[in-house]
Amino acid sequence: MNWLLSLAAVCVLVPSVHCATATGWCYHNESCNDTQWPTLFPSYCAGSRQSPIDIVSASATADSNLTAFTFTNYDNNSALKEIKNTGKTVKITLTSGIKISGGGLSEPYDSLQFHLHWGNGSSVPGSEHTVNGKRYPMELHIVNSKATYNGDTALALKDSTGLAALGFFIEEMSGNAIGQPAKWNVLSSYLSEIVTSGQSYTVPSGISLDDLLKGVDRSKYYRYLGSLTTPTCNEAVVWTVFKDTIKVSKDVIDRFSTTVRIADDSSELMVEVFRGVQPAQPVTTQSSCSTSGYSLGLMALSLVLGRG
Ligand SMILES: *[C@@H]1O[C@H](CO)[C@@H](O)[C@H](O)[C@H]1NC(C)=O
Ligand SMILES: *[C@@H]1O[C@H](CO)[C@@H](O)[C@H](O)[C@H]1NC(C)=O
Ligand SMILES: *[C@@H]1O[C@H](CO)[C@@H](O)[C@H](O)[C@H]1NC(C)=O
Ligand SMILES: *[C@@H]1O[C@H](CO)[C@@H](O)[C@H](O)[C@H]1NC(C)=O
Ligand SMILES: *[C@@H]1O[C@H](CO)[C@@H](O)[C@H](O)[C@H]1NC(C)=O
Ligand SMILES: [Zn+2]
Repeated sequence: MNWLLSLAAVCVLVPSVHCATATGWCYHNESCNDTQWPTLFPSYCAGSRQSPIDIVSASATADSNLTAFTFTNYDNNSALKEIKNTGKTVKITLTSGIKISGGGLSEPYDSLQFHLHWGNGSSVPGSEHTVNGKRYPMELHIVNSKATYNGDTALALKDSTGLAALGFFIEEMSGNAIGQPAKWNVLSSYLSEIVTSGQSYTVPSGISLDDLLKGVDRSKYYRYLGSLTTPTCNEAVVWTVFKDTIKVSKDVIDRFSTTVRIADDSSELMVEVFRGVQPAQPVTTQSSCSTSGYSLGLMALSLVLGRG
């Protein structure tokens, strides 16, 4: 997760030590890369529920509380407000009124922004979470804040479940597709408007969150309690990582690592923008009975056969 813009907003309102230093980190220079974050930002990057993690599917335990999500206004094609190069990621802010609820969350959360993590093209993967050790080409994070905080991120960051992050893996589409899916092609075409750090561009209407999440069964996911994956690494995040991947054509994936730069026009391309995996955390997933009519049917059948 990239939290720069919101932290900047928090810092204006509530100056504090961790805010003042939250800018001195990076992904590649060894003086400030992720191995240094626990030293540079001891609260909270040195904590004990840090993200991302490697998800070991066989160790995920069933939790019947993990029901289906409700996604409100994810079909609105005016939901994407602005796309920005933050110097660390590409972030898209969302209009108000986009929400999630259910999914085992204690209350509704407002969807505030999404951003991406990537490697170096489709051949050097750069997702943050890994599954059974596998790293995917990219990962999309939708950042949500408890609705009762009404967008006050300072309050959300002080609550161990103040934020809910939705993680989606992006995988290369099979075959030789070009510019697919069409809405991902359009979104990635805006990268040429935000080549240097700090540049932003108003996203024209025509793309909804549903468009970008096409092909993902959003009832199948992993859940654990973790942190922001960028300094100051606050342990305030309920993580949901979806099992299905978003399939995007190679040319669109490659655009991210070949277009945007970490500072000015002469700076390095933004590549390998992800934090390494942190120590394991307990992971849960849906109990098969609550998500699969098929298993329920099989159970009923075996009961009948058992009696016969
Ligand atoms: C890494 O950062 C340090 C301190 O800012 C700087 O002196 C050094 O030149 C940087 N190294 C590279 C390879 O950019
Ligand atoms: C980060 O810096 C350390 C040295 O402090 C180095 O061993 C490591 O390879 C670097 N990691 C990345 C991803 O650049
Ligand atoms: C499910 O939710 C209930 C009520 O919030 C809680 O008491 C219970 O521990 C939860 N179950 C699991 C497996 O987390
Ligand atoms: C979609 O979002 C825009 C921007 O927030 C809003 O003006 C519009 O009313 C929404 N449309 C629907 C159908 O909710
Ligand atoms: C990324 O890939 C390109 C093309 O393969 C290569 O030229 C470049 O050196 C790579 N960058 C890094 C940082 O590995
Ligand atoms: Zn992220």
